[in-house]
Amino acid sequence: MTMILSHLSLQLNVINGCSMKSQGWANPTIGWKFLIFVLLQVGIGLILFPYLRSFSKPLKEDENPSNLTILLWTWPYGIHVPIENCTEVLGVPNCHFTADRRWYQRADAVLVHHHDVYLDAKKLPQDPRPPFQRWIWYSPEPPSKHPVPAFMDNLFNLSMSYRRDSDIFAPYGWMEVYTEPQEVIIPPKSKLVAWAVSNWKSDSVQVRVRYYEELKKYLPVDVYGRRHWPLPQNKLLSTLSQYKFYLAFENSQHEDYITEKVWRNAFLSGAVPVVLGPPRKSYERFLPPHSFIHVGDFPTAQELATFLRELDADEEQYQSFFQWRAWLKPVEYKSWGFQFCRACRALQGQPATYQTLPELSKWFR
Ligand SMILES: *[C@@H]1O[C@H](CO)[C@@H](O)[C@H](O)[C@H]1NC(C)=O
Ligand SMILES: *[C@@H]1O[C@H](CO)[C@@H](O)[C@H](O)[C@H]1NC(C)=O
Ligand SMILES: *[C@@H]1O[C@H](CO)[C@@H](O)[C@H](O)[C@H]1NC(C)=O
Repeated sequence: MTMILSHLSLQLNVINGCSMKSQGWANPTIGWKFLIFVLLQVGIGLILFPYLRSFSKPLKEDENPSNLTILLWTWPYGIHVPIENCTEVLGVPNCHFTADRRWYQRADAVLVHHHDVYLDAKKLPQDPRPPFQRWIWYSPEPPSKHPVPAFMDNLFNLSMSYRRDSDIFAPYGWMEVYTEPQEVIIPPKSKLVAWAVSNWKSDSVQVRVRYYEELKKYLPVDVYGRRHWPLPQNKLLSTLSQYKFYLAFENSQHEDYITEKVWRNAFLSGAVPVVLGPPRKSYERFLPPHSFIHVGDFPTAQELATFLRELDADEEQYQSFFQWRAWLKPVEYKSWGFQFCRACRALQGQPATYQTLPELSKWFR
């Protein structure tokens, strides 16, 4: 009871916005008026008490203060992807992930998958946002595919994407450093150049298709994927590993947009990537020297073809494109759940200070 009373008087002080000490007792009428005033306040306080209590109590009652709740506003593309244990995959205290929107008022963060909301502002949360809650904008896809409309400005607190300057950097792959040098094993090669493409736009809009049409005049290219030779996922790496080179051509060109075409199709299979995407500088931020061939280094596709033929004929030169593998291990993006854990880690790593993204639509394009 004493605890409740002290709680109450504390709240009365808050209501009055001033301390009792400033009241005078010299004049008895003022004293009586003041007593009535106090009684009234206590009455109001008692009525307000349950409300105030619910307002002032901790918003979450976890025993574990680092157990943040992240509300997945949608399942990505409507698919119920598996959730990971962030302690196991990133070595950080785990977060509680849920896609149950009844958590909205209590969630520490709301993670919004861009594709699922960008066509309609009404698909975003409509209820007032709790003051402590942060909204995370997440897009693994480039802006040319799903642009950022202006209604998304001044709405989110953190960005998450493949761009290095995102608040939460979520790339498609990365390099891990071995503690000691490893033996470099190059898979046996019997073929020259491969390309696997699922999203084939035969119209000349796509830079990569135009480049391929030009390149194939000078060099045979085996094309896999829809509309071409079939290539099931479980045969992807073993098939591509037989090739010396892999055309890691991105479907659109954007800063830092370097996808599984490099990380999985080329690096994990053991083919040397011939990259077409952002400028060389962007690749150099993430990939070691002499691990890829950039089409921008060649004035024409014909000259690239000549270079690839030279490498094909010179085993030593070709093998030099694998030397980095003695120290570095390419790792590909693991899962949606893994990316969600990046958000979990970032939220734990920084105090919940005020932060907002006023110009998301200008930044992500
Ligand atoms: C984290 O919070 C959720 C929701 O309150 C709860 O179900 C879960 O048991 C908590 N986990 C830990 C480790 O405290
Ligand atoms: C996550 O993994 C850690 C370490 O293995 C374990 O202690 C914890 O219970 C796991 N949490 C859940 C929710 O499975
Ligand atoms: C998050 O961003 C919104 C919109 O700009 C802002 O109103 C809110 O105060 C921000 N919250 C935090 C915790 O930074």
